[in-house]
Amino acid sequence: MENILIIGAAGQIGSELTLSLREIYGNEHVFATDLKKPAKDVSETGPWAILDVLDNKRLVHFVIRHNITQIYHLAAVLSGNAERIPIQAWNINMEGLMNILDLAKEIPEIKKIFWPSSIAVFGPTTPRQNTPQLTITEPNTVYGISKIAGERWCEYFFEKYGVDVRSIRYPGLISYKTEPGGGTTDYAVEIFYEAIKNGKYECFLEENTYLPMMFMSDAIKATIDLMEAKPEDVKIRSSYNVGGISFSPKELSNEIKKHMPDFEITYKSDFRQKIAESWPQSINDQEAEKDWDCKTTIKIEEMTKIMLDGVREKLQ
Ligand code: NAD
Ligand code: SER
Repeated sequence: MENILIIGAAGQIGSELTLSLREIYGNEHVFATDLKKPAKDVSETGPWAILDVLDNKRLVHFVIRHNITQIYHLAAVLSGNAERIPIQAWNINMEGLMNILDLAKEIPEIKKIFWPSSIAVFGPTTPRQNTPQLTITEPNTVYGISKIAGERWCEYFFEKYGVDVRSIRYPGLISYKTEPGGGTTDYAVEIFYEAIKNGKYECFLEENTYLPMMFMSDAIKATIDLMEAKPEDVKIRSSYNVGGISFSPKELSNEIKKHMPDFEITYKSDFRQKIAESWPQSINDQEAEKDWDCKTTIKIEEMTKIMLDGVREKLQ
């Protein structure tokens, strides 16, 4: 019997991952926790609680009380927001992860941990095209520094203490159910809301800024596939590159124009432009494919259609 704890369940990923895990493990076995109450479809379909990952005492108590066997630790401050509150972001991102790793080391009933890393582990000195799994990782953002440090800690806890921790370097994730939480790739979600609401969008990145992206259903599938892989198949214990699609704001706006010919985009870049320019444009994910058969399917055309339909329905 698995009992799964999701930390950060009200966020962009957690709100969808919780529902997918409940379908697999049963509603009552997936505990959604966050600093805030999750949306209704999460809070009304299974257990939820307010839980701060930095409150170690309550965390331990919660895990023991509910016989937790797996933890998905999603709480973090994302790239854009982290630059505004660097020290606080570092503390939340690192202390939260260390609490979880230490918990898994001390409580043998916890069998598996998932913690997401990001394309933000790469930096301006990394090759930007088809970025390989093993390459230069010299991030120059607080968020990226916390993710690369987190990766090293995950591998350390696996090697030293046998903690079965698994991780993916997510690219920018696109979804309409819950809005993103302050990242550099958020433009690729905002653009759909503004297109439907106002027919136009002012983009905070320049038109030819390519970034790796992925539609949420592909990200959820990859996450669950990795967590269900046999331990011996999970060869990388820092974090796996996972590819997806790659596009620029201009290409995305052209795709939207196919459905909404009057849609207009203008560009006014801000501090996030520099962050985007330090990240890869496309990702090589052959290790994930080789080790646990990672596959993504949704391309920009299909994603655009799903997003326009989904955002339209949500706003109505
Ligand atoms: P999000 O900002 O949408 O959600 C994070 C959630 O964590 C929020 O609901 C927030 O309330 C909660 N939280 C913050 N501090 C907390 C604390 N102390 N205790 C408990 N909960 C707390 O983020 P997301 O997009 O869902 O990202 C989840 C994870 O995936 C993060 O680690 C992020 O770095 C990583 N990631 C996301 C993306 C993306 O494009 N969304 C890409 C790469 C990596
Ligand atoms: N989407 C995330 C961000 O932009 C990437 O980790 O911060």
